[in-house]
Amino acid sequence: MSGRPRHFIDLAGMPAGEIRRLLRLAESAEPADPTALAGHTVATLFFEDSTRTRTSFTLAARRLGADVIDLASTNSSLSKGESIADTAKTIEAMGISAMVIRSSRAGTCELIAQHVGCSVINAGDGRHQHPTQGLLDAYTACKALDPFSPNPFDLTGKTVVIVGDLASSRVFRSDVAAFGSLGATVVGVGSSTLAPRSLEALGCRIERDLDAVLPEADAVQALRIQFERHGGTAVASRREYRARFGLTIGRALRMKPGSVVMHPGPMNRGLEIDEAVCEGGPDLPRPLILEQVAAGVSVRIALLRDLLSPAGGSAEPVNAPEPAGVAS
Ligand code: CP
Repeated sequence: MSGRPRHFIDLAGMPAGEIRRLLRLAESAEPADPTALAGHTVATLFFEDSTRTRTSFTLAARRLGADVIDLASTNSSLSKGESIADTAKTIEAMGISAMVIRSSRAGTCELIAQHVGCSVINAGDGRHQHPTQGLLDAYTACKALDPFSPNPFDLTGKTVVIVGDLASSRVFRSDVAAFGSLGATVVGVGSSTLAPRSLEALGCRIERDLDAVLPEADAVQALRIQFERHGGTAVASRREYRARFGLTIGRALRMKPGSVVMHPGPMNRGLEIDEAVCEGGPDLPRPLILEQVAAGVSVRIALLRDLLSPAGGSAEPVNAPEPAGVAS
């Protein structure tokens, strides 16, 4: 790969014009040109489990004509004590154009980017960031809430409520950046352990009472309780959690007309979101959960193409003439 590598690690601080440019690319990403990344190899390095992100990056790369190699911590020499930087350099030496990395440790992608010359894409690092999830959530919400807007990808005047285990969530951090950049008011809801007020520094409002904020919500994104990060010690009881913060059918029925329900997955059905709310129905807000999954493929096609193909994604800047500097 010639020239300076371009990475995609963090949505925080990314200019709104750049986020909109990537969302515009996602809009026209499919059908993908199956020759766009011919000759490129994309490596997926997932050191933490994934269904949606790993599969959709693999599909995206293949639809663009790239080869894909797949490495997991359990079947790599990391288990023999090799450092993650050495593992990344070793993979890169085989002729890799981009590495898509998921890790339970915040900062892993930034660390690897210092050691390799190829593009590094963050597929989720600890509690820090999940930037393609932020993009796909924003994309899905924009398409659902304002499909015919003359200002595409503008959420000015909309309120997005994100409820649940915010403190553990990299999705929350990326969503606040994405939704906030597009003009939405973002309200985080949870208990003092799951949603400390310090999170307001990200650019959102933190509230404790889900019922009080529901009437103003255009979209409610429920987040999974990440038992694996705190062993469940941040939640006194599942029953109490559902009673206070669950997106129950009763709450969904009180949401305003035209509003939507989101969840990045994987879901704890019956805990943070009721079965019937996931499926939708008469008088219930429209669930976007599978639309979020589908958007993940489009967003990742757009991103890979933008980072790796010589012509990039041929995107025009939208609303702002910021440079096309993907966060690095
Ligand atoms: N939303 C998300 O990141 O899902 P996976 O863990 O299945 O990739």
